Amino acid sequence: MNTHHIGTPANRKDGREKVTGKAKYAAEYFAPDLVYGFVVNSAIAKGRITGIDLSEAQQLPGVLHIFTHENRPGYTWLDSHYQDEDSPPGSPFRPLYNNQITFSMQPIALVVAESFELARYAGMLVKVTYEEEPQETDFEKNLIHAYEPPNYKSSPPPKPWGNPEEAMAHAPVKLEQAYSHPAEHHNPMEMHAATVIYGQDGKLTVYDKIQGVQNSQKYLSHAFGIPLQDVHVVSEYVGGGFGSGLRPQYQLFLAVLAARELKRSVRLMLTRQQMFSFGHRPKTVQRFALGASQDGKLQALEQNAFAETSRFEDYSEDVVIWPGVLYACDNVKLTHKLVGLDVYTPLDMRAPGGTTGIYALECAIDEMAYQVGMDPMEFRLKNYSEKDYNKDKPFSSKELREAYRQGAARFGWEKRNPAPRSMKEGHQLIGWGVAQGAWEAKQQEAAAKAVLTPEGKLTVSSATADIGTGTYTVMAQIAAETLGLPLEDVTFKLGDSTLPKSPLEGGSWTVSSVGSAVKAVCEQVQEQLLKLAQKLENSHFSNSKREDLTFSGGRLFVTQAPAQSVSLAEVLAQAKGSPLEVEASLKPAKEQQNYSPYAHSATFVEVQVDEDLGTIKVTRIVSAIAGGRIINPKTARSQILGGAVWGIGVALEEHSVMDSRVGRFMTYDLDKYHVPVNADVQQIEVIFVEEHDAIVNPLGAKGLGEIGIVSVAPAIANAVFHATGKRVRELPITLDKLL
Ligand code: MOS
Repeated sequence: MNTHHIGTPANRKDGREKVTGKAKYAAEYFAPDLVYGFVVNSAIAKGRITGIDLSEAQQLPGVLHIFTHENRPGYTWLDSHYQDEDSPPGSPFRPLYNNQITFSMQPIALVVAESFELARYAGMLVKVTYEEEPQETDFEKNLIHAYEPPNYKSSPPPKPWGNPEEAMAHAPVKLEQAYSHPAEHHNPMEMHAATVIYGQDGKLTVYDKIQGVQNSQKYLSHAFGIPLQDVHVVSEYVGGGFGSGLRPQYQLFLAVLAARELKRSVRLMLTRQQMFSFGHRPKTVQRFALGASQDGKLQALEQNAFAETSRFEDYSEDVVIWPGVLYACDNVKLTHKLVGLDVYTPLDMRAPGGTTGIYALECAIDEMAYQVGMDPMEFRLKNYSEKDYNKDKPFSSKELREAYRQGAARFGWEKRNPAPRSMKEGHQLIGWGVAQGAWEAKQQEAAAKAVLTPEGKLTVSSATADIGTGTYTVMAQIAAETLGLPLEDVTFKLGDSTLPKSPLEGGSWTVSSVGSAVKAVCEQVQEQLLKLAQKLENSHFSNSKREDLTFSGGRLFVTQAPAQSVSLAEVLAQAKGSPLEVEASLKPAKEQQNYSPYAHSATFVEVQVDEDLGTIKVTRIVSAIAGGRIINPKTARSQILGGAVWGIGVALEEHSVMDSRVGRFMTYDLDKYHVPVNADVQQIEVIFVEEHDAIVNPLGAKGLGEIGIVSVAPAIANAVFHATGKRVRELPITLDKLL
């Protein structure tokens, strides 16, 4: 009986459900009284609604009601100051609050009808008149109004250290460059949706697309003034999150509003186009100044980031912490300012701040390496940080050197000809680029419950999510390993607001946080099993402590004397037919505060650029990851592959194009907003280097959801430079910028 699961590439527990269509997503739940909503979005970016004519739409048979700011019930938004778990400082957007328009495609009406098609058709017949006001959505033009927010959503920029001005003035080699990155929109396969089942007693069961059911539950409780226990939020499957489901979005509020008012079950799904009406990675411009010695030692670094936000919330992310994490430099100055625009508030998108900040940093560093005439990998190794300079703390572990060593060997980096345009094959210019990355390995407080039946079947639960990352599987692996059970005897339950408290599934912290809680609760089950075992006649365990025992192969034995063992079945028989039940909550250990926990990456990329056409192909990516203990090499590899694919999108394709004359993102569908397809993805290799970390959390595992993306786009940009000799400092790198 194999009961060792950690480090084993287990198949996804939910794989069969997903591929057979049995897994239900938020818009797939049904009730006999179900009706359908469709949202009408604002045609302007700023101003106010002067009139909404519903008459034509309302006349259609089968249209039940149209909700607007004029007829929304008074009990909504009584608690106007409520902020959800992922809110930036400011005042969150409230659908149908009043007649003010603050961004283009703002939801302004909800049509509810007998069918989706009818609701959508009726939505087209809603006539809205506006009084338009001048809008500002031109980022560059508004840079002069950039401000430091009174409060940062992310950490505030680290305080300067050393003497950056003086060090910069005296540095023999200097570089000053700006890098920019456009807005990007999340495009998970599953569009945002909520199905609200109206119960007989008026209680609601809400199937929401969300990365944290308890966040939606609290949000609804505040928005509608209803007791928490009267709102049950469920999200068993999420068809991709990437941050788009961290905050409750407007489909949730509107669907619940309609269900409560109509006393019926309501389904509201956004269209793909409407997925571009909320939340995006903010456009960011970063100005860098670097100073180095002739032999390539960084002496001074300045990074000034400017990123967009909305008028109503100060959204910020960790764009400027990366020099202090990745480089040993004694003189550093960092600023991060916001540019307020008439757009919806930006929203965390996979490795928020890291994807943008590391992109710009790693391109600037690459330019400096060429300027001092060093191999770009050697330059990075020469300036390798042995501590987190932002916090002046040692890393809990950092095997990035080993990641470089293994990654470079696999890639064949030593065969690289350093000169740009030197590695040509026919019409194809070959470029090899490298970049490094980091992502915080944070542990949050989380709780879990374990129930072990007399038959030895274990169910562990926590209100977390599985956004496609493999949570169901890895949590079951952790639990099964801890109690020495076969994986098929363990079930993990998630995505239900009644389950033990969990943080949002985000920030790459789910394994660290929920996984550690799962381990902790299973250790408490071990304690209970030990107590039962001690009741056995002639027990081997009379003087044992839990720490002395091993749970393996469905047995419990004294580690030092394996002959002294007993089967779990025998132990459980002592429970006289009742299951063991334990709930536990776990906080990060205090000693962690003395360390800085990060996962690290080294990424090597090969591109082929057609000399005549400027087309770019990413032919090879080697991504070497130092991510602590790997719980499931299979799902872990998938995370890194996904990050690499998205890195291709960031570098070469994704671009939410703002037409600042009308204040709207014009790339509002997948025919205009390009993401990598199979033809864009060639060879990707993933390496996990061995990394032992006894501090980061009880599992020694670091999150892998975000580390896979951060260093990919800069490695591609650097490879494109190596191929062509042309530095494109504005993403995405499209062929027009190369010709
Ligand atoms: Mo992630 S952007 O924290 O879902």
